[in-house]
Amino acid sequence: MSDPEKGANFIKTTLEGPPTSEEAVLRPTRFAEFTGQRKTIERLQVMVGAARRRGDPLNHILFSGPPGLGKTTLALLLGTEMERNVRITSGPVVEKPGDLAGLLTNLEEGDVLFIDEIHRIPKTVEEYLYSAMEDFRLDIMIDQGPNARSVRLNLPRFTLVGATTRSGLLTTPLRSRFTLQTRLDYYDQTDLLKIVNRTCRLLEVAVDAGGATEVASRARGTPRIVNNLINFVRDFAQERGDGAITRDIASAALELLEIDARGLDEMDKRVLRIIATHYNGGPVGLATVAIAAGEEPETLEEVHEPFLIQEGYLQRTPQGRVLTVRGYEAIGLKPGHPSQPELL
Ligand SMILES: Nc1ncnc2c1ncn2[C@@H]1O[C@H](COP(=O)(O)OP(=O)(O)OP(=O)(O)O)[C@@H](O)[C@H]1O
Ligand SMILES: [Mg+2]
Repeated sequence: MSDPEKGANFIKTTLEGPPTSEEAVLRPTRFAEFTGQRKTIERLQVMVGAARRRGDPLNHILFSGPPGLGKTTLALLLGTEMERNVRITSGPVVEKPGDLAGLLTNLEEGDVLFIDEIHRIPKTVEEYLYSAMEDFRLDIMIDQGPNARSVRLNLPRFTLVGATTRSGLLTTPLRSRFTLQTRLDYYDQTDLLKIVNRTCRLLEVAVDAGGATEVASRARGTPRIVNNLINFVRDFAQERGDGAITRDIASAALELLEIDARGLDEMDKRVLRIIATHYNGGPVGLATVAIAAGEEPETLEEVHEPFLIQEGYLQRTPQGRVLTVRGYEAIGLKPGHPSQPELL
């Protein structure tokens, strides 16, 4: 479990890079600093308040939702609010029951174990999690053959925080052992604006109202994209302007990144264009679109589709994906546009 972010790399967005120390500066560490996700925050505040009052560990919590909305941030924040340590690992890294036993026996009472990408935990390990979460014990088989025997390990009462971009892949027994299952949604413009201004303040970058609006409206509802865009726009402002983020600077910088006024990136638009021009607007299956777009179906489903669907560019029907009027508009075409693959 050397690299907690291992395995997260299969999620590609245009602007994702390795975590930097700037990222650590930008992560909100207290409820008061966390913008948006009001329902989730209120639920967490209730649980943290009650657990602290009783002197109990926090109950197990599952965060789900698309990448970059704050799942890892919230897991770490819970540690701060509970004044407990957070151990971080990731589903694919916990390969064997022994790995899990190692992690759990090293926890102290009340500690938070954060398992990122919990849907990728192997089945053989998942079964051990059940009793660990429910009864704080592990029955582990040691040795093989005639010497095989089961050993019971009593665990400290800990809190499991799981994060997943694909809650649908979690088994029911695992999911039901989380007291709170909460889904993070894309952020609205008001919250994104606050996040833009906060990031600029922390990075000591000058930004005016027009510049902030421009960045917020093109960030696909995602704080991580806000931060990545600001990083690029800051470079652009320093190279091509006087260092301040104005509307013109932001707009020119984002144009250079080929992020349009709606925040759609190249892959988003490629998906819409393929459905419009190759398949007459659909319905068409996800796997087919993925092949045509040259992208993994999982990435389309986890990263691109949720935003396209939420913003009304795309619909998911039992027959497949269907482009909406808005979807046509986003790529400058009219519904019923004849198939013209050569336009791609
Ligand atoms: N509510 C927020 N306010 C300000 N910044 C935020 C907020 N939520 C997230 N961020 C910023 O966005 C970045 C991405 O958040 P985070 O790493 O928690 O996303 P995630 O949901 O874990 O994504 P992934 O599924 O890819 O692991 C963080 O570095 C953090 O600085
Ligand atoms: Mg994360």
